[in-house]
Amino acid sequence: MSKDTQSGLSRRHLFTGTTALVAATSLSACGGDEEAPLIIRPDGVPMSNFGKESTAEEVTAGLDLSGKTAVITGCNSGLGYETMRVLASRGAHVFGVARSMEKATDACNSVVGTTTPFAGDLEQFETMAVCADAIGATGAPIDMLILNAGVMALPELQQVNGIERHFVINHLGHFILANRLMEQVKSASQGRFVTVGSQGYMWAPDTGIQFDNLDGAWGEYVPNTAYGHSKLANGLFSLELARRLGESTATANVIHPGVINTNLGRHYPSYIRIFANLFSWALPFFKTVEAGAATETYAATAPGLSEISGFYFEDCNPVVAGQNMENAAMAERLWTVSEGLTQPYLVSSASVVDTDISAPRTWAEPMPSGAVPFRK
Ligand SMILES: NC(=O)c1ccc[n+]([C@@H]2O[C@H](COP(=O)([O-])OP(=O)(O)OC[C@H]3O[C@@H](n4cnc5c(N)ncnc54)[C@H](OP(=O)(O)O)[C@@H]3O)[C@@H](O)[C@H]2O)c1
Repeated sequence: MSKDTQSGLSRRHLFTGTTALVAATSLSACGGDEEAPLIIRPDGVPMSNFGKESTAEEVTAGLDLSGKTAVITGCNSGLGYETMRVLASRGAHVFGVARSMEKATDACNSVVGTTTPFAGDLEQFETMAVCADAIGATGAPIDMLILNAGVMALPELQQVNGIERHFVINHLGHFILANRLMEQVKSASQGRFVTVGSQGYMWAPDTGIQFDNLDGAWGEYVPNTAYGHSKLANGLFSLELARRLGESTATANVIHPGVINTNLGRHYPSYIRIFANLFSWALPFFKTVEAGAATETYAATAPGLSEISGFYFEDCNPVVAGQNMENAAMAERLWTVSEGLTQPYLVSSASVVDTDISAPRTWAEPMPSGAVPFRK
């Protein structure tokens, strides 16, 4: 909601002409454009002059981010790498988080500017807590926390400690990072949480978050449905975070980057990946990686968004997502359930974090006592 009107929770719905891509053209996570979708804009959020083809470099042209600190997950690949590269080139100190220190270091070393690598595996919750605490130990206020990493379309149902794996990686791992870095973001003059969601939220079950079946057993397993479920969680997380940030200067928004041929499609059948590699340049709904990184970069840096919170962006502009993405009650419940599922790793809990990062325990081990089971 814009901080002055607090009107975001009553935004109008978006109805799209299409609901999903056909598999053969969907390394993507957003709708194809056989019919132009009807886009509804929320009240009170400035429109930019940028659009689908704008790049991260273009949306930050002229910005001096010296003295700013950005944290980004998934810094070693695709959109995360490009976002880190551009933020660092504009003067920000970027803390690049990757699954391993080797990946983070390689990525950080390969861009021009000031970067610092951190390791954290989103499905090994203790490593995320350790990662957050290592970032916290720098003492730097965080101007931008970009929750970018993700997986898509795991071919069969996979679970981590009994919970569906897209949900764990795309949502719960980031929930821990955000929780542990909350005060550091709030301590920045105007800290921003940017969650990289997806228009794939439309693929989530019609009833929204499957609170009683977070193990993924809500019917026949469909990879895009599981992904969409986790991306709906990203959107609801951002909505509830914005509400909880209240009158602080910090903001939270969620974005859809577009359809980009990145490693995100690694779990698709090889014929789809070959097709995308050969033809993505020619298909109008695909963006380049440079353009794909634009919306998250824009949400993290645009001066005009300093008081904009609780919104969803596509192509560097606000869009009313509608459907379950607007469901404030579902968002609040998701927050509570997520706290229960990650409770031992949150700052509000007694710490279970090992100081020895060289030998992190995996979260796949039984959860410490006190953890709330995911099933009612
Ligand atoms: N590309 C698209 O068309 C598209 C569309 C809509 C939304 N998105 C969203 O954009 C974001 C970035 O995706 P991308 O396209 O840049 O894909 P990508 O190139 O595959 O990058 C994904 C990043 O997430 C990291 N990651 C995956 N699992 C992880 C884990 N367990 N712990 C830590 N890091 C993990 C990957 O690390 P590894 O390299 O080590 O696996 C990689 O750095 C995702 O949230 C995705 O859902 C993308």
